[in-house]
Amino acid sequence: MFASQLTRKIRTFTRSLTSISRHSNIRRFITMETNGEVITCKAAVARGPGEPLVVEEIKVDPPKKMEVRMKILYSSICHTDIDIWKGTNEAQRAFPRILGHEAAGIIESVGEGVTDLKKGDHVIPIFNGECGNCVYCKSEKTNLCETLRVNPMKSVMVNDGKCRFSTMDGKPIYHFLNTSTFSEYTVIDAGCAAKIDPDASLKKMSLLSCCISTGVGAAWNCANVQAGSTVAIFGLGALGLAVAEGSRVRGASTIIGVDINSEKFIKGKKMGVTDFINPKDVGTPVHEKIREMTGGGVDYSFECAGNVDVLRESFLSTHDGWGSTVLLGIHPNPRMLPLHPMELFDGRKIIGTVFGDFKGKSQLPHLAQPVHQRAPQKKCRRRRCTFRIDLVRDILLRLPVKSLLRFKCVSKSWLSLISNHKFAITHLNKTSKRSRRYGVIESKHCHRISVYSLDGMDHLVIFLQ
Ligand SMILES: NC(=O)c1ccc[n+]([C@@H]2O[C@H](COP(=O)([O-])OP(=O)(O)OC[C@H]3O[C@@H](n4cnc5c(N)ncnc54)[C@H](O)[C@@H]3O)[C@@H](O)[C@H]2O)c1
Ligand SMILES: [Zn+2]
Ligand SMILES: [Zn+2]
Repeated sequence: MFASQLTRKIRTFTRSLTSISRHSNIRRFITMETNGEVITCKAAVARGPGEPLVVEEIKVDPPKKMEVRMKILYSSICHTDIDIWKGTNEAQRAFPRILGHEAAGIIESVGEGVTDLKKGDHVIPIFNGECGNCVYCKSEKTNLCETLRVNPMKSVMVNDGKCRFSTMDGKPIYHFLNTSTFSEYTVIDAGCAAKIDPDASLKKMSLLSCCISTGVGAAWNCANVQAGSTVAIFGLGALGLAVAEGSRVRGASTIIGVDINSEKFIKGKKMGVTDFINPKDVGTPVHEKIREMTGGGVDYSFECAGNVDVLRESFLSTHDGWGSTVLLGIHPNPRMLPLHPMELFDGRKIIGTVFGDFKGKSQLPHLAQPVHQRAPQKKCRRRRCTFRIDLVRDILLRLPVKSLLRFKCVSKSWLSLISNHKFAITHLNKTSKRSRRYGVIESKHCHRISVYSLDGMDHLVIFLQ
């Protein structure tokens, strides 16, 4: 009941943000001079655990050193907001607080020392930031950052330990997850703002700010789902659906969705879920059902419900010897990992991921390229689009379910680029000299996309048919 109250409130607030972006002239906003001034605006403030959010006027200070102030145009809601709002984990409570971490907007002003962002830039806030200088940011092994990593305990700015938000009578309002996006304006560290292409739809890009990147990244970066493999996803919310999409793109042959809400299967099917289990409908533990369906267990399972009992089912549903479980859900204290150490001797692995292992600031701009908006539509007729080689993966990500992708590579490196990403290449046609490196991906087609490399190594030319 709490959650639905919060969702209603945020929907109303988000509608008001959306109407700002729809009706106001963004150009006028860009020329508006607020640089260095305190801004008065509206925010949805959480005043206590489980208490209805209050939409009220607040003050937002200018950004300090290595910070930016952004105008939020779109903000969505993630389950993590709900947990923090409820105060499930007492140690993380800090009220009054501005929640929200999945959003998109425009830079209003930048603080001293910020050189990579400027007023008017389109940005996505990143709750798991990237300073770019620390030992973690310099390592390819992690997407955590020494100072800007996700930390639900943190409620003030790193710079001076103070808040940039205050009530109209000057009392501080706490920050949340490096972002606090349920406000018309927010101040974030520059390392928590990913600059994206201004042609990308900000409304859609908002989802890259948390659930889509986390779910898709869990399948790609963390589990490294292989073509032809089997997958089980526990919890088909925003995150679980994004895992399904990421697994589908990688060519998983079976994607089992598990959810206590059977309606989730309808959406799940569109995102690649092939089978569905409602734990309430099966007499046996879910892992037994999954082992029976897959001949011993799935190759990968993902826990996206934030429930330790579900995590155990998820762990046991993988195949012994090689199964991997990826933990995405946020789990309240005090329960510990529900495993006996000796169970790991059966060869099942368990790993956790924050933000799908993406390094947000540096990797998200690629995902947000406007190539997404040109994703193939059913009625496309032989249209030619040119894309940079590093966007091939993004193009593949956008392919609708059951699409046929033909590609021809002038160089072997393209082919390896595609196969390295484990897309299901069903056959390589070597019949004629002209189409020597010609391949077909996922041939259960409803429409076709031919990808030809006509201009050397740097670009792909795609014909949508
Ligand atoms: N790791 C990260 O970086 C990261 C990022 C964002 C969110 N999260 C966490 O991931 C989890 C999912 O987030 P979301 O926004 O998709 O949540 P959501 O509320 O949209 O979806 C959760 C889904 O789990 C289902 N569910 C609940 N109990 C279940 C059970 N016992 N068995 C099977 N299904 C069950 C619900 O019906 C719902 O469909 C949350 O715990 C959230 O805090 C983690
Ligand atoms: Zn989130
Ligand atoms: Zn860092």
